[in-house]
Amino acid sequence: MTITMAFSFNHIVALVFLVINLSSFGLSQDDQDLTKGGSFIFGDSLVDAGNNNYLQTLSKADIRPNGIDFKASGGNPTGRFTNGRTIGDIVGEELLGQSNYALPFLAPNTTGRVILYGVNYASGGGGIMNATGRIFVNRLSMEIQVDYFNITRKQIDNLLGASKAREYIKRSIFSITIGSNDFLNNYLMPVLSMGTRVTQSPDAFVDDMINHLRAQLTRLYQLDARKFIVGNVGPLGCIPYQKTINQLDENECVSLPNKLAVQYNARLKDLLQELNENLKGATFVHANVYDLVMEVITNYAKYGFSTASVACCGNGGQYAGIIPCGPTSSMCSDRDKHVFWDPYHPSEAANLIIAKQLLDGDARYTSPMNLRQLRDL
Ligand SMILES: *[C@@H]1O[C@H](CO)[C@@H](O)[C@H](O)[C@H]1NC(C)=O
Ligand SMILES: *[C@@H]1O[C@H](CO)[C@@H](O)[C@H](O)[C@H]1NC(C)=O
Ligand SMILES: *[C@@H]1O[C@H](CO)[C@@H](O)[C@H](O)[C@H]1NC(C)=O
Repeated sequence: MTITMAFSFNHIVALVFLVINLSSFGLSQDDQDLTKGGSFIFGDSLVDAGNNNYLQTLSKADIRPNGIDFKASGGNPTGRFTNGRTIGDIVGEELLGQSNYALPFLAPNTTGRVILYGVNYASGGGGIMNATGRIFVNRLSMEIQVDYFNITRKQIDNLLGASKAREYIKRSIFSITIGSNDFLNNYLMPVLSMGTRVTQSPDAFVDDMINHLRAQLTRLYQLDARKFIVGNVGPLGCIPYQKTINQLDENECVSLPNKLAVQYNARLKDLLQELNENLKGATFVHANVYDLVMEVITNYAKYGFSTASVACCGNGGQYAGIIPCGPTSSMCSDRDKHVFWDPYHPSEAANLIIAKQLLDGDARYTSPMNLRQLRDL
């Protein structure tokens, strides 16, 4: 009897200790997350994690079979425009050890301490310029994405207090993947670009883009962002959509979209160098997505793909590049063997290769440092 009671007493003491330890473990876990900062993601459909689910828009990916390989949703669509994880998801996992992906700003449950993992503002159809993506009726342009970060910024002040919040933001990674739609769904649109292409030379349009992006990045800096990675625009002329409508051969790409991308990319590189010099304490990493994606497309077999021209999910023409991916689309049987998931977006397999190079690659693809080095600054 006595022995049993003593045991019970010890048991209770042990339980109490366990509870105390667990709660202090919980606290130190929070602190640990804070020391790594969060992942704040801005951009277009390449990194949208579901914001467009909450918009009245024609640019949506909340339908099957999008997300079919996304483990966290059990293969259900999430609003990601790919079969699995985006580059933003993969980078968040690797850099911050996140099991929780940065949640879409517009999702109702993106509130409270979960925002300390980071927040995703990206929106399919969005661009640097306000007018970009008008064809989709609604989307979050970069300007609005920064406005929304300003709201998050105040929420973080409330959660952590002003001084801890500032330190946390300074440690966080700000990734910006934008610009493709300014060409695809603005400058290059046959009817909707109406005035633009008539009144603006490519030089003037690119100039406008760079000036707007400079202002947008500077606003993020004013809100205490210090660690930036900014992707350039990929080889737009090589996506299945462009190759299909222009009826190109397998190993060809459309030249005008690529030429515009290259022109913008040169100016972006200069802009980031300028900001590195002018904005004290900030680091802007330039991600050379164009060369990286071109390398994967050109040498696709070396990376384990069977095609870099045919979309896995989509319909129309030689490269399944006209009708976007949806429930009635035809879908390839081996999704890891296609560079492109749909007429516009890379597959998760391609995203993994791209993300790996951004994280750990050399000066060909990231400068002045790679993402892991940026985190450890
Ligand atoms: C937020 O809501 C979405 C959609 O209902 C759900 O998939 C997700 O798991 C939720 N996230 C959290 C952190 O509760
Ligand atoms: C773009 O939209 C934002 C937010 O609605 C607005 O504040 C800004 O003035 C607009 N910029 C231009 C150039 O139209
Ligand atoms: C953030 O919002 C406040 C208003 O709440 C405004 O005064 C400030 O200029 C905004 N900052 C930026 C960088 O947009």
